[in-house]
Amino acid sequence: MSQKFIINGGRPIEGAIKVKGAKNAALKVFPLALMTSEPIGISNMPEIEDCYRAEEMLVALGHEVSRSGKGVVEISYKSRTCVNLPPGLVNKFRASIMFVGPLLATCGEVCFPHPGGCVIGAGTRPIDMFLDGFVKMGAKVEVLENSYRLSAKKLKGATIFFPKITVTGTESLMTTACLAEGITILKNCAMEPEIPALAEFLNTMGAKIAGAGTPVIKIEGVKKLRGGNYMLIPDRIETGTFAILAAVANSGEVLIENCNPGHLEALWALFDKIGVNYKLGQNSVKISPTKKILPSNVVTHEYPGFATDLQSPYTVLMTQAHGLSLIHETIHDRRLLFTDMLTQMGANIIMADPHRVVVSGPSKLYARKLISPDLRAGIALVIAALIAEGSTEIDNIYQIERGYEDLVERLTGLGADIKKV
Ligand code: EPU
Repeated sequence: MSQKFIINGGRPIEGAIKVKGAKNAALKVFPLALMTSEPIGISNMPEIEDCYRAEEMLVALGHEVSRSGKGVVEISYKSRTCVNLPPGLVNKFRASIMFVGPLLATCGEVCFPHPGGCVIGAGTRPIDMFLDGFVKMGAKVEVLENSYRLSAKKLKGATIFFPKITVTGTESLMTTACLAEGITILKNCAMEPEIPALAEFLNTMGAKIAGAGTPVIKIEGVKKLRGGNYMLIPDRIETGTFAILAAVANSGEVLIENCNPGHLEALWALFDKIGVNYKLGQNSVKISPTKKILPSNVVTHEYPGFATDLQSPYTVLMTQAHGLSLIHETIHDRRLLFTDMLTQMGANIIMADPHRVVVSGPSKLYARKLISPDLRAGIALVIAALIAEGSTEIDNIYQIERGYEDLVERLTGLGADIKKV
């Protein structure tokens, strides 16, 4: 039987909450262990399901993963046991594709099924830009019945243009190119903060990457990479999610600590527009109650634009704004479907098309029995439940715990009435 959250809404939300290390940075660092025979240490690691799956993947491939404390992971090489990524793990998280390039670069071949993760794309989320990139670098790609087989005697540097901006695609090809022969130039790259952070760590391992965090990245291949220690950057999506929760609850002062407010400029610009009171510190943000939340349209955009991963909490916020807002989701195809559950809770939302909804607020929300469809929709339902009247039950919380550590404890610390059963 799956676990559920039971949330009694309407409690004042106030106090302090600490942000954990970035999930989407953590998942990209584990596979680097495949590219060196020296140990890798990672700190500020979030204790979340997706990271446990990434650890299991390394163990399945012959590495040893140990912990010397909460959030501190050490990975060492024992022996390479196989070049097949275990389907049961690949199915569980999209970032499993990050293991493909390092195996291809070091073993000359890799087999894997189509990666899983949140069901937010049209059908399964495509991997064409990864495959095209590997082909440009000299790999042969075979599409088999239930898997892909990639092989290459030697990967070679190449110039690769991404027809669409892709975060993990940029990270995957940038990482793989470190062990390819010669120079790789990646164009139209994603610029999310996790990318320069990853490049910086790879450079400490001996890689030669320039331009990460800009649209053009140049990588000069090296023969070997060393180990090293990496401290993950704070999770900007957690930061934004908690800031939006504080704004929606609008019931007390909330201090969000251990974060990097500089990674969320698009959110602060929106807060200016809709009248949320916030104060940025160097590593913290304080949200204070406001008289009235105003509506504002939003269009999700690649970094530094408004993050798609914050669209669902923002949609909940707009159910409490005085007026109409248009939410336009441009990155993932199915990310607005969860708004149906907000409507069931009493929100006034009209879907114009699969990429656009119009929210008319403010609406009183009421408790319902809900099922979390994916990670970010799930956390939005948690936020909605925290301001709803009555006791909301949210099922399928594995999807939420994939990305948020100790949610019950941390939200309880802010005064929320939330239990896991
Ligand atoms: N795309 C293709 N072909 C590809 C790769 C991507 O068409 O080969 C499309 C996708 O379908 C999507 C668009 O390109 O429409 C952008 O997707 P991107 O590749 O940038 O997404 P991702 O790297 O798979 C990461 C985060 C997501 C976040 C997006 C956008 C990780 C593990 N995931 O996904 O985070 O929404 O970037 O910022 O880094 C989450 O944390 O809940 C989450 C889904």
